[in-house]
Formats: sequence, structure tokens, C-alpha cells
Amino acid sequence: MNEAADHILIVGGGQGIGAAIAALWPDRTTVWTRRTGVDAADPSSLQAAFARFRQQHRTPWALVHCIGDFCERPVLGTDLATFRHLFTSNLDTAFHTVQTVVPAMVTEKRGRVILFAAAGVDKDRGLRRAPMYFAAKAALVQMARSLALEVAAAGVTVNVIAPGLIHHAESHQQSQQRLVAKVPLGRVGNVADVTELVRYLLSDAASYVTGQVLTVDGGLQA
Ligand SMILES: NC(=O)c1ccc[n+]([C@@H]2O[C@H](COP(=O)([O-])OP(=O)(O)OC[C@H]3O[C@@H](n4cnc5c(N)ncnc54)[C@H](OP(=O)(O)O)[C@@H]3O)[C@@H](O)[C@H]2O)c1
Repeated sequence: MNEAADHILIVGGGQGIGAAIAALWPDRTTVWTRRTGVDAADPSSLQAAFARFRQQHRTPWALVHCIGDFCERPVLGTDLATFRHLFTSNLDTAFHTVQTVVPAMVTEKRGRVILFAAAGVDKDRGLRRAPMYFAAKAALVQMARSLALEVAAAGVTVNVIAPGLIHHAESHQQSQQRLVAKVPLGRVGNVADVTELVRYLLSDAASYVTGQVLTVDGGLQA
């Protein structure tokens, strides 16, 4: 990364983890959320925003997608609207985002992509707590692994961060406090636990890392 010039685009960075990532490079980051007028569930909204972005900046060096609503309901207790919403929020927005931005990175033959899943979804086991959320995140992981293969020849890397319980002002604190006993390291994570991993993935040191799921969960056993 050229610290002076390269731009970072964060889709879903208005609060929480995304906002903390944006704060690492305040002068070189653009944040898109619905509150800034960009709905990542709508491809035309993303395309219009990217056209505006390109008028001011060259292709971003890094793309971070940080959206994903959460819901603790069992499979048999999930109504269709909730099911659709969880997949739209967690998977469709990521699909539309990479389809909008990554082709330009491929053309430039450089770039880093980071998507967010959730701890445990890449393991071969069920997760009782929020199954349809985790199902959407598992699909996102598989999309990311395949995308990493598609764009590797262009020098673009794609990795997934899988957080466990990460505290911030808007996070699901009731659920986090209920589960903290299942964290071997004995605490809920904070946004810095995640942002330092982002800093690494966007550094020169990570140029040979792609197609990976990097879990930040204190060893969570849930
Ligand atoms: N926090 C945790 O403990 C935890 C644990 C596991 C995984 N994760 C994952 O890590 C990522 C970040 O989590 P977080 O807790 O920081 O998320 P968050 O607090 O829910 O923030 C999500 C951000 O995305 C934006 N957003 C939501 N829908 C959007 C849309 N359709 N188009 C554009 N922007 C949209 C929101 O702003 P607007 O409302 O203005 O659009 C907000 O700024 C997510 O993928 C989440 O699933 C988090």
C-alpha cells in the first residue's frame, strides 16, 4: 500500500467494526452506508456511488465489506421475511459490492478485498444460536474463497475475517454477555482486536495471503 495515496473503500462503515477500520486511515477512507445514501442491497445504488467515487479517486487499493445483520432464531422458527433479510444483508450486499468494485481492481492488477463472516461458519458443524445468519455467512465464505481464485492472477487478494463476540456501542451486548463464559480467553473482544488484523491484511506483509478465513474470537466454544 502506498500510505500517501492509496484509498480504502468501506461498505458498511458507519458504526461498529467498519467505523473503527475507517478511523485507522481517516484521510484516505470512503465510507458507504444507507445513511450516506448508498444501499448495498441495490446494485444500481452501488454502481452510481462507484461512478461518483471514480470521478475523484483512482480505483481503491482496498475494499472492505462490513455489513451483516444478525438474528438469533432457530431454523424452524425463522419466517420467510427474516430468512430473506438475513441473506440480503449478509450475502447479497457482499455479492453486489464485489461485482461493482473488484473488476476495476482486476484491471489495475492490484488490490485487497476483506469480507466479514462470523466465527465458526467455516467449520464442519452446526451452530444453534443464529443458524440462518451463520448459513448466510457460510455462503459468503465460499463466495470469497472462489473469488480469491478468480482474481489471484491479477494480484488481487481476497480474505475473510470471522469475528466472535466483538463489543461496540451498537453490538448485541445481551447475547455477548450470555456467551462470554464460552470464551477461553475470558473476555469479549473489542474493535481493536479486529482492526489490527485489517491493518495486517492491507499491509505489504500480507501480500501472499489470500483465500483465507481469519478467526478473531478468543477461542470461542459456541
Ligand atoms: N460485532 C460482532 O460481534 C460481530 C460478530 C461476528 C460477525 N460480525 C460481522 O462483522 C461485520 C461488522 O459488524 P458490526 O457489528 O460492526 O456491524 P453493525 O454495527 O451492524 O454495522 C453495520 C454497518 O453496515 C451499514 N449497513 C447495513 N446495511 C446496509 C446496506 N444495505 N447498505 C449499506 N450499508 C449498510 C450500517 O449503516 P446504515 O444503517 O447507515 O446503512 C452500519 O454502518 C458484519 O458483517 C457482522 O455480521 C460482527
